[in-house]
Amino acid sequence: MTTTAPSQTQKQSPGRQGPPTRAWWKEASIYQIYPASFVDSNGDGLGDIRGVISKLDYLHSLGVDAVWLCPIYESPQKDMGYDIANYRAIHAPYGTLEDVEELTGALHARGMKMVMDLVVNHSSDQHAWFRESRSSKGNPKHDWYIWRAPRFVDGKRLPPNNWASCFGGSAWAYEEARGEYYLALFCPEQPDLNWENPDVVREVHDIMTFWLEKGVDGFRMDVINMISKTPGFPDAAVSLPGREWQPAFEHHSYGPRLNEFLKGLREVLDRYDAFAVGEMPCVNQDSQVAAVVAAERKELNMIFQFDIVDMDIGDDGKFSPRKWDANTLKNIVNRWQTFMYDVDGWNALFLENHDQARSVSRFTKHRPEHRTLAAKMLATFIGTQAGTLYIYQGQELGMTSLPETWSMDQFKDIESLNLHAEAVERFKDNKEAMEIFMRDLRKKARDNARSPMQWNGEKNAGFSVAKPWMRVNDNYPEINAQQQHGEGGSVLSYWRKLLQARKDYRDSLVYGNFELVQDGHEAVICFKRGGGYCADAWVVVNFTDSEQSWRPPAELRAMIASGKQVLGNYDDDVVLEGDVLQLRPFESRVLIAQGAV
Ligand code: GLC
Repeated sequence: MTTTAPSQTQKQSPGRQGPPTRAWWKEASIYQIYPASFVDSNGDGLGDIRGVISKLDYLHSLGVDAVWLCPIYESPQKDMGYDIANYRAIHAPYGTLEDVEELTGALHARGMKMVMDLVVNHSSDQHAWFRESRSSKGNPKHDWYIWRAPRFVDGKRLPPNNWASCFGGSAWAYEEARGEYYLALFCPEQPDLNWENPDVVREVHDIMTFWLEKGVDGFRMDVINMISKTPGFPDAAVSLPGREWQPAFEHHSYGPRLNEFLKGLREVLDRYDAFAVGEMPCVNQDSQVAAVVAAERKELNMIFQFDIVDMDIGDDGKFSPRKWDANTLKNIVNRWQTFMYDVDGWNALFLENHDQARSVSRFTKHRPEHRTLAAKMLATFIGTQAGTLYIYQGQELGMTSLPETWSMDQFKDIESLNLHAEAVERFKDNKEAMEIFMRDLRKKARDNARSPMQWNGEKNAGFSVAKPWMRVNDNYPEINAQQQHGEGGSVLSYWRKLLQARKDYRDSLVYGNFELVQDGHEAVICFKRGGGYCADAWVVVNFTDSEQSWRPPAELRAMIASGKQVLGNYDDDVVLEGDVLQLRPFESRVLIAQGAV
């Protein structure tokens, strides 16, 4: 148990005087669907679009305002649809264009919005453009992708530089027909498009227009920060000594023409009042983020910034550990929350998605009896910050990562499989290093998020009548939507209340500014949403499974005495003992002034 000195809030955002301008995409809570694992309507073991349509009432009653569908386009599925072979056609096992139109119409009929994934850093190698591009040096699409001559060292043919692929190995693949390498920052079946070619840029604009004309309300733009690369393709600095291929983010995470390209995309969006959230790994310098999201820049509306989901990644690659605590998290949150107010940008709030492990397993150390409390604490923590809130399917149930007992043959993801194979080779004489790697892979593998949605306690968790494409998490009898639906104390009910609270107290919880209580406490996170133009709301969460004795600032003590509770994961009222709050495991409270709206 820890008791801390009286704490102070510090005003961090002097730049802005009034509230941010309002917009539908700022107020929306967006539910992310991974189509393969959501609902299988036709009994082939794979989720599909008609399955999504069948669950719209569920989503509406959850209180989300929009759905973001991960890629559903025609694809050989080397990377679960992030390898697109035709941007205007649907992957047949998912359904048809008519199904997508019906889904869009059904969302709109419920007052909800439709967001699609736009994957245009790369296509599939099966796209007609690439088939043509790779066929010869003289073909009309010869420079739609990034081609370079080999290097020869001691007569040996080598890729043009030392860049590593994000999925392991070199970022270059060789094509006999041209005698050249092409760049593929992910897997070789995902060749990078050449944005230096104006025809490629025009084509991307046309693809966006095609979908916007169909009524789509916005895009999540996949690794959109990588579309511009350092001219000349110089070697990357060596950050992983002894390895042949080096991460090259300094050359492809924020290239010289990125801002220009983003402005072009924004012009298309603005014709339709549509919005874009850009996925931007490895972008965290103030000036770079501000240049993309500051409203006056007219580039992206917001970005997925990776500081939280990268905070437990060590120096030796994704599956190496790093220690963190509540203060690490507080520093990250405080930085971006206040920053967006100062630059007139906007945050995209997320703890989970299809590339991240389940948050309750990854970010809380809990005993099974505390799982529900821990999941509600995380919901409170992320869902009361300023920004657009993203909820990944199953997060609203507190779904967990895969069981520790599963062997590697249950893992499906190309990233996990490639990096695992690399590690087996690299650590063949180092058992301890391999064990550390495996522990971390289990903690962070993308597979953790991709097991089928747990709808009920029946066969295959109600996801499919057939054998699912990926095994269902063993805990579906205890964690499923049906069982949580009518239960007031469930994680699902809590998310419903949280999403409703963001609507009821929109001025404070969506638009209010952010002031962190900076007391250095290693377990308790507390912040105020307010700013003088709306009622103050206070959020306090205990991030640990142990009891914490914590002294709130005077202003919060007054609020506890006079305010009302908007949300809490314990049934009783919040009570001060003298000046101190005794916070139980994962205890979370949101308070607001009486009479506030
Ligand atoms: C993004 C996607 C991820 C995909 C990668 C390559 O990070 O979210 O799933 O593998 O881009 O498209």
